[in-house]
Amino acid sequence: MTQQPPDVLTVIGTGIVTDTTASGALLLLLCLLLITTWCLANASHVPGPFFWAGLGPILSYSRFIWTGIGTACNYYNKRYGSMVRVWINGEETLILSKSSAVYHVLKSARYTARFASKQGLQCIGMDGRGIIFNSDVPLWKKVRTYFAKALTGPGLQRTIGICVSATDRHLERLQEMTDPSGHVDVLNLLRCIVVDISNKQFLRVPLNEKELLLKIQHYFDTWQTVLIKPDIFFKCGWVYKRHQQAAKELQDVMESLIETKRKAIVESEKLDDDLDFTSELIFAQSHGELSADDVRQCVLEMVIAAPDTLSISLFFMLMLLKQNPEVEMKIVEEISTLIGENDVLTVDFQNFRVLESFINESMRFHPVVDFTMRKALEDDVIDGTKVTKGTNIILNIGLMHKTEFFPKPNEFSLENFDKTVPSRFFQPFGCGPRSCVGKHIAMMMMKAVLVTLLSRYTVCPRHGNTLSSIRQTNNLSQQPVEDEHSLAMRFIPRMTQLPDHNQPPLTTTSPH
Ligand code: HEM
Ligand SMILES: *[C@@H]1O[C@H](CO)[C@@H](O)[C@H](O)[C@H]1NC(C)=O
Ligand SMILES: *[C@@H]1O[C@H](CO)[C@@H](O)[C@H](O)[C@H]1NC(C)=O
Ligand SMILES: *[C@@H]1O[C@H](CO)[C@@H](O)[C@H](O)[C@H]1NC(C)=O
Repeated sequence: MTQQPPDVLTVIGTGIVTDTTASGALLLLLCLLLITTWCLANASHVPGPFFWAGLGPILSYSRFIWTGIGTACNYYNKRYGSMVRVWINGEETLILSKSSAVYHVLKSARYTARFASKQGLQCIGMDGRGIIFNSDVPLWKKVRTYFAKALTGPGLQRTIGICVSATDRHLERLQEMTDPSGHVDVLNLLRCIVVDISNKQFLRVPLNEKELLLKIQHYFDTWQTVLIKPDIFFKCGWVYKRHQQAAKELQDVMESLIETKRKAIVESEKLDDDLDFTSELIFAQSHGELSADDVRQCVLEMVIAAPDTLSISLFFMLMLLKQNPEVEMKIVEEISTLIGENDVLTVDFQNFRVLESFINESMRFHPVVDFTMRKALEDDVIDGTKVTKGTNIILNIGLMHKTEFFPKPNEFSLENFDKTVPSRFFQPFGCGPRSCVGKHIAMMMMKAVLVTLLSRYTVCPRHGNTLSSIRQTNNLSQQPVEDEHSLAMRFIPRMTQLPDHNQPPLTTTSPH
Protein backbone atom coordinates (compact mmCIF):
# COMPACT_ATOMS: atom_id res chain seq x y z
CA MET A 1 0.00 0.00 0.00
CA THR A 2 1.23 3.44 -0.82
CA GLN A 3 0.61 6.53 1.20
CA GLN A 4 -1.29 8.35 -1.46
CA PRO A 5 -4.78 6.90 -1.27
CA PRO A 6 -5.34 7.44 2.49
CA ASP A 7 -4.14 11.00 2.01
CA VAL A 8 -6.63 11.57 -0.74
CA LEU A 9 -9.38 10.08 1.40
CA THR A 10 -8.39 12.29 4.27
CA VAL A 11 -8.66 15.31 2.06
CA ILE A 12 -12.12 14.33 1.01
CA GLY A 13 -13.15 13.33 4.50
CA THR A 14 -12.15 16.54 6.19
CA GLY A 15 -13.05 18.71 3.26
CA ILE A 16 -9.99 20.76 3.92
CA VAL A 17 -8.31 21.83 0.76
CA THR A 18 -4.75 22.65 1.66
CA ASP A 19 -2.99 22.39 -1.63
CA THR A 20 -4.54 23.71 -4.83
CA THR A 21 -2.46 21.41 -7.06
CA ALA A 22 -3.49 18.39 -5.03
CA SER A 23 -7.14 19.27 -5.31
CA GLY A 24 -6.75 19.87 -9.02
CA ALA A 25 -5.19 16.44 -9.45
CA LEU A 26 -7.92 14.93 -7.33
CA LEU A 27 -10.63 16.49 -9.43
CA LEU A 28 -8.97 15.22 -12.57
CA LEU A 29 -8.74 11.74 -11.06
CA LEU A 30 -12.39 11.76 -10.13
CA CYS A 31 -13.36 12.95 -13.59
CA LEU A 32 -11.28 10.23 -15.19
CA LEU A 33 -12.84 7.64 -12.92
CA LEU A 34 -16.31 8.83 -13.82
CA ILE A 35 -15.61 8.88 -17.52
CA THR A 36 -14.09 5.40 -17.36
CA THR A 37 -17.05 3.89 -15.52
CA TRP A 38 -19.45 5.67 -17.83
CA CYS A 39 -17.57 4.36 -20.82
CA LEU A 40 -17.37 0.85 -19.41
CA ALA A 41 -21.06 0.85 -18.56
CA ASN A 42 -22.01 2.20 -21.95
CA ALA A 43 -19.20 0.95 -24.19
CA SER A 44 -20.34 -0.67 -27.39
CA HIS A 45 -18.13 -3.71 -27.24
CA VAL A 46 -18.58 -4.75 -30.83
CA PRO A 47 -16.17 -7.56 -31.58
CA GLY A 48 -13.90 -7.26 -34.57
CA PRO A 49 -10.26 -7.11 -35.59
CA PHE A 50 -7.94 -4.97 -33.41
CA PHE A 51 -6.97 -1.43 -34.37
CA TRP A 52 -3.24 -2.11 -33.89
CA ALA A 53 -2.08 1.44 -34.57
CA GLY A 54 -3.91 1.58 -37.86
CA LEU A 55 -2.79 -1.79 -39.18
CA GLY A 56 -6.18 -3.35 -38.43
CA PRO A 57 -8.11 -0.96 -40.66
CA ILE A 58 -5.65 -1.52 -43.51
CA LEU A 59 -5.84 -5.30 -43.18
CA SER A 60 -9.61 -5.43 -43.04
CA TYR A 61 -9.95 -3.03 -45.97
CA SER A 62 -7.53 -5.16 -48.01
CA ARG A 63 -9.62 -8.22 -47.36
CA PHE A 64 -12.69 -6.46 -48.73
CA ILE A 65 -10.84 -5.34 -51.84
CA TRP A 66 -9.16 -8.67 -52.57
CA THR A 67 -11.82 -11.22 -51.75
CA GLY A 68 -14.89 -9.16 -52.61
CA ILE A 69 -17.38 -7.61 -50.19
CA GLY A 70 -19.61 -10.66 -49.85
CA THR A 71 -16.77 -13.09 -49.13
CA ALA A 72 -15.16 -10.71 -46.63
CA CYS A 73 -18.46 -10.24 -44.75
CA ASN A 74 -18.92 -13.99 -44.40
CA TYR A 75 -15.36 -14.33 -43.15
CA TYR A 76 -15.80 -11.67 -40.44
CA ASN A 77 -19.23 -12.86 -39.32
CA LYS A 78 -18.00 -16.43 -39.04
CA ARG A 79 -14.92 -15.36 -37.13
CA TYR A 80 -16.32 -12.71 -34.76
CA GLY A 81 -20.06 -13.38 -34.54
CA SER A 82 -23.27 -11.87 -35.87
CA MET A 83 -22.26 -8.27 -35.17
CA VAL A 84 -18.77 -7.27 -36.25
CA ARG A 85 -16.95 -3.97 -36.52
CA VAL A 86 -14.48 -3.61 -39.40
CA TRP A 87 -13.11 -0.70 -41.43
CA ILE A 88 -13.71 0.04 -45.08
CA ASN A 89 -11.70 2.91 -46.50
CA GLY A 90 -10.92 3.97 -42.91
CA GLU A 91 -14.62 4.20 -41.97
CA GLU A 92 -16.13 2.12 -39.19
CA THR A 93 -18.42 -0.47 -40.71
CA LEU A 94 -20.75 -2.87 -38.92
CA ILE A 95 -21.59 -6.22 -40.48
CA LEU A 96 -24.85 -7.65 -39.17
CA SER A 97 -26.14 -11.17 -39.74
CA LYS A 98 -28.62 -11.65 -36.89
CA SER A 99 -32.25 -11.36 -37.93
CA SER A 100 -33.27 -9.04 -35.07
CA ALA A 101 -30.52 -6.55 -35.97
CA VAL A 102 -31.04 -6.89 -39.71
CA TYR A 103 -34.79 -6.44 -39.38
CA HIS A 104 -34.35 -3.38 -37.19
CA VAL A 105 -32.17 -1.67 -39.82
CA LEU A 106 -34.39 -2.71 -42.74
CA LYS A 107 -37.52 -1.31 -41.10
CA SER A 108 -36.02 1.92 -39.82
CA ALA A 109 -36.10 5.26 -41.67
CA ARG A 110 -32.69 6.06 -40.11
CA TYR A 111 -30.86 3.95 -42.67
CA THR A 112 -32.22 5.10 -46.01
CA ALA A 113 -28.78 5.99 -47.39
CA ARG A 114 -26.06 3.69 -48.69
CA PHE A 115 -22.29 3.96 -48.41
CA ALA A 116 -19.76 3.60 -51.21
CA SER A 117 -16.80 5.50 -52.62
CA LYS A 118 -18.09 8.92 -53.62
CA GLN A 119 -15.51 9.27 -56.37
CA GLY A 120 -16.30 5.80 -57.63
CA LEU A 121 -20.00 6.53 -57.81
CA GLN A 122 -19.33 9.87 -59.50
CA CYS A 123 -17.25 8.10 -62.09
CA ILE A 124 -20.22 5.95 -63.16
CA GLY A 125 -22.94 8.56 -62.68
CA MET A 126 -24.54 7.01 -59.57
CA ASP A 127 -23.55 9.66 -57.02
CA GLY A 128 -26.64 11.64 -56.10
CA ARG A 129 -28.46 10.28 -59.14
CA GLY A 130 -30.65 7.35 -60.06
CA ILE A 131 -31.98 5.16 -57.26
CA ILE A 132 -29.73 2.25 -56.36
CA PHE A 133 -26.83 4.12 -54.74
CA ASN A 134 -28.42 7.55 -54.56
CA SER A 135 -27.89 8.91 -51.03
CA ASP A 136 -29.40 12.33 -51.71
CA VAL A 137 -32.42 11.32 -49.68
CA PRO A 138 -35.00 13.86 -50.94
CA LEU A 139 -34.11 13.15 -54.59
CA TRP A 140 -34.00 9.39 -53.95
CA LYS A 141 -37.51 9.59 -52.43
CA LYS A 142 -38.81 11.41 -55.46
CA VAL A 143 -37.38 9.03 -58.06
CA ARG A 144 -38.38 5.99 -56.04
CA THR A 145 -42.04 6.90 -56.52
CA TYR A 146 -41.57 6.61 -60.30
CA PHE A 147 -39.93 3.20 -59.91
CA ALA A 148 -42.63 2.04 -57.52
CA LYS A 149 -45.36 3.11 -59.88
CA ALA A 150 -43.83 1.25 -62.83
CA LEU A 151 -43.15 -1.92 -60.84
CA THR A 152 -46.53 -2.39 -59.17
CA GLY A 153 -50.20 -2.11 -60.14
CA PRO A 154 -50.97 -2.42 -63.88
CA GLY A 155 -47.26 -2.89 -64.68
CA LEU A 156 -47.21 -5.94 -62.47
CA GLN A 157 -50.30 -7.37 -64.17
CA ARG A 158 -48.84 -6.89 -67.63
CA THR A 159 -45.61 -8.69 -66.74
CA ILE A 160 -46.83 -12.25 -67.10
CA GLY A 161 -47.90 -11.84 -70.72
CA ILE A 162 -44.70 -10.00 -71.60
CA CYS A 163 -42.50 -12.62 -69.91
CA VAL A 164 -44.28 -15.58 -71.46
CA SER A 165 -44.10 -14.22 -74.98
CA ALA A 166 -40.50 -13.01 -74.66
CA THR A 167 -39.40 -16.40 -73.31
CA ASP A 168 -41.30 -18.23 -76.04
CA ARG A 169 -39.83 -16.09 -78.76
CA HIS A 170 -36.27 -16.66 -77.59
CA LEU A 171 -36.87 -20.39 -77.21
CA GLU A 172 -38.09 -20.52 -80.82
CA ARG A 173 -34.67 -19.23 -81.83
CA LEU A 174 -32.75 -21.59 -79.56
CA GLN A 175 -30.88 -23.00 -82.55
CA GLU A 176 -29.05 -19.69 -83.00
CA MET A 177 -27.66 -19.94 -79.49
CA THR A 178 -26.64 -23.59 -79.69
CA ASP A 179 -23.02 -24.55 -80.35
CA PRO A 180 -22.01 -27.57 -82.50
CA SER A 181 -21.88 -29.84 -79.42
CA GLY A 182 -25.55 -29.05 -78.77
CA HIS A 183 -24.99 -26.75 -75.79
CA VAL A 184 -26.71 -23.44 -75.18
CA ASP A 185 -25.01 -20.43 -73.62
CA VAL A 186 -27.80 -20.32 -71.10
CA LEU A 187 -26.69 -17.27 -69.17
CA ASN A 188 -26.73 -15.20 -72.33
CA LEU A 189 -30.06 -16.65 -73.37
CA LEU A 190 -31.54 -15.65 -70.01
CA ARG A 191 -30.00 -12.19 -70.25
CA CYS A 192 -31.48 -11.69 -73.71
CA ILE A 193 -34.89 -12.74 -72.45
CA VAL A 194 -34.68 -10.44 -69.44
CA VAL A 195 -33.46 -7.40 -71.41
CA ASP A 196 -36.26 -7.97 -73.90
CA ILE A 197 -38.76 -8.08 -71.03
CA SER A 198 -37.34 -4.91 -69.43
CA ASN A 199 -37.53 -3.08 -72.73
CA LYS A 200 -41.12 -4.14 -73.43
CA GLN A 201 -42.09 -3.14 -69.94
CA PHE A 202 -40.25 0.11 -69.25
CA LEU A 203 -38.97 1.58 -72.50
CA ARG A 204 -40.73 0.19 -75.59
CA VAL A 205 -38.28 1.19 -78.29
CA PRO A 206 -36.54 -1.03 -80.84
CA LEU A 207 -33.02 -1.93 -79.70
CA ASN A 208 -30.06 -4.17 -80.35
CA GLU A 209 -30.20 -6.67 -77.48
CA LYS A 210 -26.71 -8.11 -77.89
CA GLU A 211 -24.99 -4.73 -78.04
CA LEU A 212 -26.94 -3.40 -75.09
CA LEU A 213 -26.13 -6.51 -73.04
CA LEU A 214 -22.44 -6.14 -73.69
CA LYS A 215 -22.51 -2.57 -72.45
CA ILE A 216 -24.58 -3.48 -69.41
CA GLN A 217 -21.98 -6.12 -68.61
CA HIS A 218 -19.23 -3.55 -68.92
CA TYR A 219 -21.05 -1.06 -66.74
CA PHE A 220 -21.70 -3.68 -64.09
CA ASP A 221 -18.05 -4.74 -63.98
CA THR A 222 -16.97 -1.11 -63.63
CA TRP A 223 -19.50 -0.56 -60.87
CA GLN A 224 -18.11 -3.53 -58.92
CA THR A 225 -14.58 -2.32 -59.39
CA VAL A 226 -15.09 1.25 -58.21
CA LEU A 227 -17.62 0.67 -55.44
CA ILE A 228 -15.27 0.70 -52.44
CA LYS A 229 -11.95 1.59 -54.03
CA PRO A 230 -9.77 4.11 -52.11
CA ASP A 231 -9.73 7.72 -53.27
CA ILE A 232 -6.05 7.50 -54.32
CA PHE A 233 -7.17 5.03 -56.95
CA PHE A 234 -9.07 7.84 -58.67
CA LYS A 235 -6.35 10.45 -58.20
CA CYS A 236 -4.65 8.83 -61.13
CA GLY A 237 -6.36 10.70 -63.95
CA TRP A 238 -6.32 7.99 -66.60
CA VAL A 239 -7.73 5.37 -64.23
CA TYR A 240 -10.68 7.65 -63.53
CA LYS A 241 -11.10 8.35 -67.24
CA ARG A 242 -10.97 4.69 -68.20
CA HIS A 243 -13.72 3.77 -65.80
CA GLN A 244 -15.72 6.81 -66.71
CA GLN A 245 -15.44 5.80 -70.36
CA ALA A 246 -16.80 2.31 -69.69
CA ALA A 247 -19.78 3.86 -67.90
CA LYS A 248 -20.24 6.44 -70.62
CA GLU A 249 -20.75 3.79 -73.30
CA LEU A 250 -23.94 2.64 -71.63
CA GLN A 251 -24.99 6.19 -70.79
CA ASP A 252 -24.70 7.09 -74.47
CA VAL A 253 -26.86 4.15 -75.50
CA MET A 254 -29.46 5.21 -72.94
CA GLU A 255 -29.32 8.77 -74.18
CA SER A 256 -30.10 7.72 -77.72
CA LEU A 257 -32.86 5.30 -76.66
CA ILE A 258 -34.49 8.07 -74.63
CA GLU A 259 -34.17 10.40 -77.62
CA THR A 260 -35.96 7.84 -79.78
CA LYS A 261 -38.63 7.66 -77.15
CA ARG A 262 -39.05 11.44 -77.05
CA LYS A 263 -39.58 11.50 -80.80
CA ALA A 264 -42.09 8.66 -80.58
CA ILE A 265 -44.05 10.55 -77.93
CA VAL A 266 -44.12 13.72 -80.01
CA GLU A 267 -45.24 11.83 -83.10
CA SER A 268 -47.88 9.67 -81.48
CA GLU A 269 -51.45 10.86 -82.00
CA LYS A 270 -52.71 10.04 -78.59
CA LEU A 271 -51.02 8.90 -75.41
CA ASP A 272 -51.44 5.46 -73.91
CA ASP A 273 -53.70 5.39 -70.92
CA ASP A 274 -51.01 3.92 -68.76
CA LEU A 275 -47.66 5.39 -69.60
CA ASP A 276 -44.49 3.37 -69.42
CA PHE A 277 -41.69 4.26 -67.02
CA THR A 278 -39.58 6.19 -69.54
CA SER A 279 -42.51 8.32 -70.73
CA GLU A 280 -43.39 9.18 -67.16
CA LEU A 281 -39.82 10.35 -66.56
CA ILE A 282 -39.74 12.34 -69.77
CA PHE A 283 -42.92 14.13 -68.70
CA ALA A 284 -41.49 14.70 -65.24
CA GLN A 285 -38.51 16.35 -66.90
CA SER A 286 -40.69 18.59 -69.04
CA HIS A 287 -42.50 19.68 -65.88
CA GLY A 288 -39.17 20.58 -64.31
CA GLU A 289 -39.38 17.78 -61.74
CA LEU A 290 -36.23 15.97 -62.87
CA SER A 291 -33.13 16.89 -64.85
CA ALA A 292 -32.10 15.19 -68.11
CA ASP A 293 -29.26 13.49 -66.22
CA ASP A 294 -31.72 12.17 -63.63
CA VAL A 295 -33.92 10.73 -66.36
CA ARG A 296 -31.02 9.06 -68.12
CA GLN A 297 -29.63 7.51 -64.93
CA CYS A 298 -33.05 6.26 -63.80
CA VAL A 299 -33.76 4.58 -67.13
CA LEU A 300 -30.26 3.11 -67.09
CA GLU A 301 -30.71 1.66 -63.61
CA MET A 302 -34.13 0.27 -64.49
CA VAL A 303 -32.64 -1.45 -67.52
CA ILE A 304 -29.65 -2.94 -65.64
CA ALA A 305 -31.55 -3.99 -62.51
CA ALA A 306 -33.13 -7.10 -63.96
CA PRO A 307 -30.28 -8.53 -66.09
CA ASP A 308 -27.91 -8.22 -63.14
CA THR A 309 -30.16 -10.04 -60.74
CA LEU A 310 -32.89 -12.03 -62.47
CA SER A 311 -30.84 -13.79 -65.14
CA ILE A 312 -28.23 -15.00 -62.67
CA SER A 313 -30.94 -16.05 -60.20
CA LEU A 314 -32.67 -18.04 -62.94
CA PHE A 315 -29.36 -19.57 -63.95
CA PHE A 316 -28.71 -20.77 -60.38
CA MET A 317 -32.27 -22.12 -60.27
CA LEU A 318 -31.77 -24.19 -63.43
CA MET A 319 -28.58 -25.64 -61.93
CA LEU A 320 -30.37 -26.47 -58.68
CA LEU A 321 -33.23 -28.07 -60.55
CA LYS A 322 -30.89 -30.48 -62.29
CA GLN A 323 -29.32 -31.36 -58.93
CA ASN A 324 -32.77 -32.01 -57.44
CA PRO A 325 -34.77 -34.03 -60.00
CA GLU A 326 -37.56 -34.80 -57.52
CA VAL A 327 -38.19 -31.08 -57.13
CA GLU A 328 -38.27 -30.64 -60.89
CA MET A 329 -40.86 -33.43 -61.09
CA LYS A 330 -43.06 -31.71 -58.53
CA ILE A 331 -42.85 -28.39 -60.32
CA VAL A 332 -43.63 -29.89 -63.72
CA GLU A 333 -46.62 -31.68 -62.18
CA GLU A 334 -47.84 -28.45 -60.66
CA ILE A 335 -47.51 -26.66 -63.99
CA SER A 336 -49.46 -29.33 -65.82
CA THR A 337 -52.17 -29.40 -63.14
CA LEU A 338 -52.63 -25.64 -63.09
CA ILE A 339 -52.28 -24.97 -66.78
CA GLY A 340 -53.23 -28.23 -68.46
CA GLU A 341 -55.04 -27.30 -71.63
CA ASN A 342 -55.67 -23.71 -70.57
CA ASP A 343 -54.06 -20.54 -71.72
CA VAL A 344 -51.17 -19.60 -69.40
CA LEU A 345 -52.54 -16.10 -69.11
CA THR A 346 -55.77 -17.28 -67.50
CA VAL A 347 -53.89 -18.89 -64.63
CA ASP A 348 -53.51 -17.14 -61.28
CA PHE A 349 -49.78 -17.16 -60.65
CA GLN A 350 -50.36 -16.97 -56.89
CA ASN A 351 -51.34 -20.62 -57.11
CA PHE A 352 -47.89 -21.91 -58.04
CA ARG A 353 -47.03 -22.85 -54.46
CA VAL A 354 -44.40 -25.49 -55.20
CA LEU A 355 -42.72 -23.22 -57.73
CA GLU A 356 -42.78 -20.37 -55.23
CA SER A 357 -41.22 -22.50 -52.49
CA PHE A 358 -38.58 -23.57 -54.98
CA ILE A 359 -37.81 -19.96 -55.92
CA ASN A 360 -37.68 -18.96 -52.25
CA GLU A 361 -35.46 -21.88 -51.32
CA SER A 362 -33.15 -21.14 -54.26
CA MET A 363 -32.80 -17.52 -53.16
CA ARG A 364 -32.13 -18.68 -49.62
CA PHE A 365 -29.68 -21.41 -50.45
CA HIS A 366 -27.81 -19.75 -53.29
CA PRO A 367 -28.63 -16.05 -53.51
CA VAL A 368 -27.38 -13.63 -56.12
CA VAL A 369 -27.76 -10.64 -53.83
CA ASP A 370 -26.64 -11.81 -50.40
CA PHE A 371 -25.91 -8.52 -48.67
CA THR A 372 -27.00 -4.90 -48.85
CA MET A 373 -25.18 -1.72 -47.87
CA ARG A 374 -26.58 1.12 -45.76
CA LYS A 375 -25.43 4.19 -43.84
CA ALA A 376 -26.76 5.42 -40.48
CA LEU A 377 -28.27 8.90 -40.91
CA GLU A 378 -28.78 9.36 -37.15
CA ASP A 379 -27.51 7.93 -33.86
CA ASP A 380 -29.32 4.74 -32.96
CA VAL A 381 -29.19 1.61 -30.81
CA ILE A 382 -29.20 -1.76 -32.58
CA ASP A 383 -29.75 -4.80 -30.36
CA GLY A 384 -28.45 -2.82 -27.37
CA THR A 385 -25.40 -1.53 -29.21
CA LYS A 386 -24.94 2.17 -29.79
CA VAL A 387 -24.45 3.15 -33.41
CA THR A 388 -23.29 6.65 -34.22
CA LYS A 389 -24.47 8.69 -37.15
CA GLY A 390 -22.39 8.05 -40.26
CA THR A 391 -21.55 4.42 -39.43
CA ASN A 392 -21.51 2.15 -42.48
CA ILE A 393 -23.74 -0.89 -42.22
CA ILE A 394 -23.68 -4.12 -44.19
CA LEU A 395 -26.63 -6.46 -43.78
CA ASN A 396 -25.38 -9.99 -44.40
CA ILE A 397 -28.76 -11.42 -45.34
CA GLY A 398 -27.27 -14.45 -47.08
CA LEU A 399 -25.61 -15.65 -43.88
CA MET A 400 -28.70 -14.79 -41.81
CA HIS A 401 -30.67 -17.23 -44.01
CA LYS A 402 -28.22 -20.00 -43.16
CA THR A 403 -27.90 -19.49 -39.43
CA GLU A 404 -31.39 -18.83 -38.16
CA PHE A 405 -34.81 -20.46 -38.19
CA PHE A 406 -34.64 -22.90 -41.10
CA PRO A 407 -34.81 -26.64 -40.30
CA LYS A 408 -32.13 -27.56 -42.86
CA PRO A 409 -30.10 -24.37 -43.09
CA ASN A 410 -27.16 -25.75 -45.05
CA GLU A 411 -29.02 -27.99 -47.45
CA PHE A 412 -31.20 -27.28 -50.43
CA SER A 413 -34.60 -28.61 -49.36
CA LEU A 414 -38.18 -27.47 -49.95
CA GLU A 415 -38.83 -28.55 -46.37
CA ASN A 416 -37.35 -25.23 -45.38
CA PHE A 417 -40.52 -23.60 -46.68
CA ASP A 418 -43.02 -26.23 -45.55
CA LYS A 419 -44.00 -24.01 -42.66
CA THR A 420 -44.78 -20.34 -43.17
CA VAL A 421 -41.53 -18.48 -42.55
CA PRO A 422 -41.98 -15.34 -40.41
CA SER A 423 -40.84 -12.40 -42.51
CA ARG A 424 -38.01 -11.35 -40.23
CA PHE A 425 -36.17 -14.60 -40.98
CA PHE A 426 -36.44 -14.44 -44.76
CA GLN A 427 -35.60 -11.22 -46.59
CA PRO A 428 -34.17 -11.93 -50.05
CA PHE A 429 -35.31 -8.49 -51.27
CA GLY A 430 -35.11 -6.57 -48.01
CA CYS A 431 -38.14 -4.72 -46.66
CA GLY A 432 -38.96 -1.24 -45.41
CA PRO A 433 -38.28 2.11 -47.07
CA ARG A 434 -35.11 1.12 -48.97
CA SER A 435 -36.07 -2.42 -49.95
CA CYS A 436 -35.89 -3.80 -53.48
CA VAL A 437 -38.48 -1.76 -55.28
CA GLY A 438 -38.85 -4.55 -57.85
CA LYS A 439 -39.50 -7.37 -55.37
CA HIS A 440 -43.04 -8.22 -56.50
CA ILE A 441 -42.37 -7.95 -60.20
CA ALA A 442 -39.13 -9.95 -59.85
CA MET A 443 -41.05 -12.83 -58.27
CA MET A 444 -43.66 -12.67 -61.01
CA MET A 445 -41.03 -12.56 -63.76
CA MET A 446 -39.14 -15.53 -62.38
CA LYS A 447 -42.34 -17.56 -62.18
CA ALA A 448 -43.44 -16.66 -65.70
CA VAL A 449 -40.04 -17.38 -67.29
CA LEU A 450 -39.65 -20.67 -65.39
CA VAL A 451 -43.17 -21.87 -66.20
CA THR A 452 -42.66 -21.17 -69.90
CA LEU A 453 -39.19 -22.66 -70.04
CA LEU A 454 -39.86 -25.74 -67.92
CA SER A 455 -43.05 -26.66 -69.70
CA ARG A 456 -41.04 -26.99 -72.90
CA TYR A 457 -37.56 -28.08 -71.85
CA THR A 458 -35.48 -29.79 -69.25
CA VAL A 459 -31.85 -28.71 -69.02
CA CYS A 460 -28.60 -30.54 -68.50
CA PRO A 461 -25.41 -28.64 -67.55
CA ARG A 462 -22.21 -29.46 -69.44
CA HIS A 463 -19.82 -32.00 -67.85
CA GLY A 464 -22.30 -32.59 -65.05
CA ASN A 465 -21.39 -29.21 -63.60
CA THR A 466 -23.02 -28.30 -60.31
CA LEU A 467 -23.30 -25.09 -58.32
CA SER A 468 -20.37 -26.13 -56.16
CA SER A 469 -18.15 -27.01 -59.10
CA ILE A 470 -18.40 -23.74 -61.01
CA ARG A 471 -16.18 -20.83 -60.04
CA GLN A 472 -17.90 -17.81 -58.55
CA THR A 473 -17.08 -14.30 -57.32
CA ASN A 474 -18.83 -12.29 -54.68
CA ASN A 475 -17.99 -8.62 -54.97
CA LEU A 476 -21.27 -6.75 -55.26
CA SER A 477 -23.29 -9.90 -55.81
CA GLN A 478 -22.65 -13.60 -56.28
CA GLN A 479 -21.85 -14.32 -59.92
CA PRO A 480 -20.49 -17.32 -61.81
CA VAL A 481 -17.16 -16.78 -63.55
CA GLU A 482 -17.87 -16.95 -67.27
CA ASP A 483 -14.99 -18.89 -68.76
CA GLU A 484 -14.69 -21.44 -71.57
CA HIS A 485 -18.39 -22.13 -71.88
CA SER A 486 -18.35 -24.18 -68.70
CA LEU A 487 -21.74 -22.69 -67.94
CA ALA A 488 -23.42 -24.03 -71.07
CA MET A 489 -26.34 -26.45 -70.86
CA ARG A 490 -28.16 -28.79 -73.20
CA PHE A 491 -31.85 -28.07 -73.67
CA ILE A 492 -33.82 -31.29 -74.00
CA PRO A 493 -37.41 -30.96 -75.25
CA ARG A 494 -39.81 -31.95 -72.48
CA MET A 495 -41.97 -34.29 -74.58
CA THR A 496 -39.32 -36.98 -74.52
CA GLN A 497 -38.65 -36.40 -70.85
CA LEU A 498 -42.06 -36.26 -69.29
CA PRO A 499 -42.77 -39.39 -67.30
CA ASP A 500 -45.99 -40.79 -68.66
CA HIS A 501 -48.30 -41.05 -65.74
CA ASN A 502 -51.31 -39.90 -67.77
CA GLN A 503 -50.24 -36.32 -68.05
CA PRO A 504 -50.93 -34.54 -71.26
CA PRO A 505 -47.63 -33.52 -72.82
CA LEU A 506 -47.14 -29.86 -72.12
CA THR A 507 -45.51 -29.00 -75.37
CA THR A 508 -48.07 -30.01 -77.98
CA THR A 509 -49.46 -26.52 -78.18
CA SER A 510 -47.03 -23.68 -78.13
CA PRO A 511 -48.62 -21.17 -75.75
CA HIS A 512 -49.51 -18.38 -78.20
C1 HEM B 1 -34.06 -12.05 -58.13
C2 HEM B 1 -34.16 -10.80 -58.36
C3 HEM B 1 -33.81 -9.68 -57.40
C4 HEM B 1 -33.24 -9.71 -56.16
C5 HEM B 1 -32.78 -10.94 -55.37
C6 HEM B 1 -33.16 -8.35 -55.70
C7 HEM B 1 -32.66 -7.97 -54.47
C8 HEM B 1 -32.49 -6.67 -54.07
C9 HEM B 1 -31.95 -6.27 -52.80
C10 HEM B 1 -31.52 -7.21 -51.67
C11 HEM B 1 -31.91 -4.92 -52.78
C12 HEM B 1 -31.40 -4.05 -51.62
C13 HEM B 1 -32.52 -3.84 -50.65
C14 HEM B 1 -32.12 -3.18 -49.37
O1 HEM B 1 -31.11 -2.45 -49.31
O2 HEM B 1 -32.84 -3.38 -48.39
C15 HEM B 1 -32.43 -4.46 -54.04
C16 HEM B 1 -32.56 -3.13 -54.39
C17 HEM B 1 -33.12 -2.71 -55.58
N1 HEM B 1 -33.69 -3.51 -56.55
FE1 HEM B 1 -33.78 -5.49 -56.57
N2 HEM B 1 -33.68 -7.53 -56.66
C18 HEM B 1 -34.09 -8.30 -57.71
C19 HEM B 1 -34.70 -7.86 -58.88
C20 HEM B 1 -34.97 -6.57 -59.18
C21 HEM B 1 -35.66 -6.12 -60.36
C22 HEM B 1 -36.26 -7.04 -61.43
C23 HEM B 1 -35.71 -4.76 -60.30
C24 HEM B 1 -36.32 -3.78 -61.26
C25 HEM B 1 -36.81 -4.02 -62.41
C26 HEM B 1 -35.01 -4.37 -59.10
C27 HEM B 1 -34.79 -3.07 -58.72
C28 HEM B 1 -34.13 -2.69 -57.56
C29 HEM B 1 -33.85 -1.30 -57.23
C30 HEM B 1 -34.17 -0.08 -58.08
C31 HEM B 1 -33.21 -1.32 -55.97
C32 HEM B 1 -32.71 -0.10 -55.17
C33 HEM B 1 -33.84 0.40 -54.31
C34 HEM B 1 -33.45 1.60 -53.47
O3 HEM B 1 -32.27 1.77 -53.16
O4 HEM B 1 -34.35 2.38 -53.13
N3 HEM B 1 -34.60 -5.48 -58.43
N4 HEM B 1 -32.77 -5.54 -54.80
C1 LIG C 1 -25.59 4.89 -20.57
O1 LIG C 1 -26.40 5.14 -21.71
C2 LIG C 1 -27.77 5.25 -21.42
C3 LIG C 1 -28.50 5.43 -22.72
O2 LIG C 1 -28.07 4.48 -23.63
C4 LIG C 1 -28.02 6.40 -20.47
O3 LIG C 1 -29.40 6.46 -20.14
C5 LIG C 1 -27.22 6.21 -19.20
O4 LIG C 1 -27.35 7.31 -18.39
C6 LIG C 1 -25.74 6.00 -19.55
N1 LIG C 1 -25.01 5.64 -18.36
C7 LIG C 1 -24.24 6.47 -17.71
C8 LIG C 1 -23.50 5.94 -16.54
O5 LIG C 1 -24.12 7.62 -18.07
C1 LIG D 1 -14.32 -9.82 -57.76
O1 LIG D 1 -13.72 -10.61 -56.77
C2 LIG D 1 -12.79 -11.58 -57.21
C3 LIG D 1 -12.31 -12.35 -56.02
O2 LIG D 1 -13.29 -13.26 -55.65
C4 LIG D 1 -11.69 -10.92 -58.00
O3 LIG D 1 -10.77 -11.87 -58.47
C5 LIG D 1 -12.30 -10.14 -59.16
O4 LIG D 1 -11.32 -9.50 -59.89
C6 LIG D 1 -13.31 -9.15 -58.66
N1 LIG D 1 -13.96 -8.52 -59.79
C7 LIG D 1 -14.21 -7.21 -59.86
C8 LIG D 1 -14.88 -6.72 -61.09
O5 LIG D 1 -13.93 -6.45 -58.97
C1 LIG E 1 -41.74 -16.85 -50.40
O1 LIG E 1 -41.13 -15.72 -49.81
C2 LIG E 1 -41.96 -14.59 -49.70
C3 LIG E 1 -41.13 -13.48 -49.09
O2 LIG E 1 -40.16 -13.03 -50.00
C4 LIG E 1 -43.18 -14.91 -48.85
O3 LIG E 1 -44.05 -13.80 -48.79
C5 LIG E 1 -43.90 -16.09 -49.47
O4 LIG E 1 -44.98 -16.47 -48.64
C6 LIG E 1 -42.97 -17.26 -49.64
N1 LIG E 1 -43.67 -18.34 -50.33
C7 LIG E 1 -43.66 -19.61 -49.94
C8 LIG E 1 -44.44 -20.58 -50.75
O5 LIG E 1 -43.04 -19.99 -48.97
